Amino acid sequence: MAKRIGVLTGGGDCPGLNAVIRAVVKSACGLGWEVVGFEDGFTGVVEERLTPRVLDLAAVRGILDRGGTILGTSNKANPFRYAVHRGDSFVEADLSDQTIERLHRLGVDCLVCIGGDGTLKIAHQLAQKGFPVVGCPKTIDNDLSDTDVTFGFDTARSTATDAVGKLHTTAESHDRVMVLEVMGRDTGHLALHAAIAGGADAVLIPEVPYRIEPVCEMIRRRSARGQTFSIVVVAEGAAPAGGTQAVAESAAAIPGRGVVRLGGAGKVAADLLSQHVTDHEIRVTVLGHLARGGMPTAYDRLLGSRFGCGAVELIERGQFDHMVALQGNDIVARPLSSASVTRFVDVQGQLVRDARKLGIVFGDER
Ligand code: F6P
Repeated sequence: MAKRIGVLTGGGDCPGLNAVIRAVVKSACGLGWEVVGFEDGFTGVVEERLTPRVLDLAAVRGILDRGGTILGTSNKANPFRYAVHRGDSFVEADLSDQTIERLHRLGVDCLVCIGGDGTLKIAHQLAQKGFPVVGCPKTIDNDLSDTDVTFGFDTARSTATDAVGKLHTTAESHDRVMVLEVMGRDTGHLALHAAIAGGADAVLIPEVPYRIEPVCEMIRRRSARGQTFSIVVVAEGAAPAGGTQAVAESAAAIPGRGVVRLGGAGKVAADLLSQHVTDHEIRVTVLGHLARGGMPTAYDRLLGSRFGCGAVELIERGQFDHMVALQGNDIVARPLSSASVTRFVDVQGQLVRDARKLGIVFGDER
């Protein structure tokens, strides 16, 4: 039977989202189904004023290599705790019933939710309320436990690695310590991969509360052997042992989002370093959203395309409340119930051990 599929992208954007949308549309059209796109994540599903647009083959032509998302996204819109005006301020309200009622009214048979932990959790909640939903995992943080890789990570890793490489030449020219802050609110996958691939000297990640002394010691050792510059990569979620994460905006200031916005971990580390390291200037670079932008790599286009095709296959099989995932070389189905479980960097794992063998300091050395 012909179906009408809704598709949305939620949470922070990442390279490869358009590849997924395109693949969903192409495979669904191949089955004779119709696809409609909701704008700005769940905002487009909740808000009556936003009419979903039909996504036909023409609508997705030429978007495979485009960064961002043609549908727009939101990391605040959550039908279960939607920010609604009350007087001069916002309060959170559960609009999930009316959201599902609207989806029925629009003739949408099922929803493809492309997003990270937050979006996939909402997708699961909607499925639990009886609306057919399938998920598709994305995030530059690569921190979802049920998939080996999320698309977006490969592109972000290339961008962050490139940044580490570029900092080398200016660091060396000025004999400086360069601190590079990269995204990664709960996990340090991006920081760790970029540190190894870019040849950094230290990496500070959320999984390893750090002391600044081992980092200072590394800088002194390098200086003593004539390497008068150092690169320190800091994940935004990293914090000194006994300290707290650097918060840019409190959760209360962002209705609907439910989590703080991080920022400033690089400056915290630089300030600590400057108390001990006096013979080098220290500079901080925040890579920030540059890691989320730009053209997706071939890997992310490929994975995004496979995820999009896989999501339509889940719908064909009626396997709702599941998401597509990469396991080994295969696209598999995983229950949405566990989709938002965080995958942390394994601090005893091979990658961390290899990083240490390469001389990269984590700030936990004795
Ligand atoms: O996509 C996840 C993420 O990249 C986190 O690492 C980061 O904390 C967050 O997005 C920042 O999102 P925004 O600045 O768009 O609110």
